[in-house]
Amino acid sequence: MGAVIPTPFYMNKGLRELPAQMGIDNDEKIEGLKELTGLLHKTDTKAIAHLNHPGRMVNPIIPGNYFISATDKPCENGGTIPNRMTQKDIKAVIRLFSESAVRVQKAGFDILELQFGHGYLVAQFLSPFVNDREDEYGGGFEQSVRFPLEILSAVKAAVNLPVIIRISGDEMIPNGIILPEMEEFARLLEKAGAAAIHVSAGTVCSAPPWFFQHMFVPKGKSWAMARQVKRRIKIPVIAVAVVGDSVNSEISATSGRAPYFLVFNENGDFLKVLKNPALSLEHRASTVIINLLL
Ligand SMILES: Cc1cc2nc3c(=O)[nH]c(=O)nc-3n(C[C@H](O)[C@H](O)[C@H](O)COP(=O)(O)O)c2cc1C
Repeated sequence: MGAVIPTPFYMNKGLRELPAQMGIDNDEKIEGLKELTGLLHKTDTKAIAHLNHPGRMVNPIIPGNYFISATDKPCENGGTIPNRMTQKDIKAVIRLFSESAVRVQKAGFDILELQFGHGYLVAQFLSPFVNDREDEYGGGFEQSVRFPLEILSAVKAAVNLPVIIRISGDEMIPNGIILPEMEEFARLLEKAGAAAIHVSAGTVCSAPPWFFQHMFVPKGKSWAMARQVKRRIKIPVIAVAVVGDSVNSEISATSGRAPYFLVFNENGDFLKVLKNPALSLEHRASTVIINLLL
């Protein structure tokens, strides 16, 4: 297979989304994770570690979890009031990312992915809807990209791995993250050494159907966003979304330029890698296609 991204790692025990989530919060986890990457490597599969800081989106029912954010507004879906991060907190989170990245490398992962989208902590800084700060980390585009760029720079300095950045092309909410700004952000990420940009949509707090790519959301939107982002940068862009039978012209237009597809069936079982594929009827029947654009 090409590559596998296991579910996100928590970077501190108090930052869990799920009780059974895998963690990378201390060095004792490295041995176990080496087993995981070893198994993937045995089948010639690259291992990608996904690091996520949920910020105000940590799970309130897990005892000991703590809530911090760019703001002190709780998630609109309900949730706990977060502590507005101080500059000291910002530095501590940057350190959390870089220390976790070092463990990712020690555990034998080939690639690192940082979650900068989907309404989690970094997106809480990027989103004009959420970020109401008046210091140098809020108040406009230039200020709100400061935190993510500092994280990327610290991670790049700490490890020697390709770093994919996951973004929401559009949060699909009024005054949320919008595509033209994310195109510009992608350019800055490329300049800062990102290896690829992974484009999704929505926020788990305010637009969960887009985050989950619910069957009722229009198909092809996140593919179109990925294509727009790709126009601005040279590094690969990864698009992902349910396809099913409803392959529309947008998806076809995007997929025409893709050098690779990973094709899965409706149960999520991996079927095959296609190189330079033309989207045939057979592929349309597959539910999920991950598309690497070059
Ligand atoms: C149950 C569920 C959990 C998800 N968890 C994550 C996650 O932890 N990190 C992430 O980047 N995306 C997550 N996503 C978003 C997906 O990766 C993806 O952007 C979106 O679902 C579109 O892909 P699909 O059509 O293949 O589902 C999740 C989606 C679902 C449905």
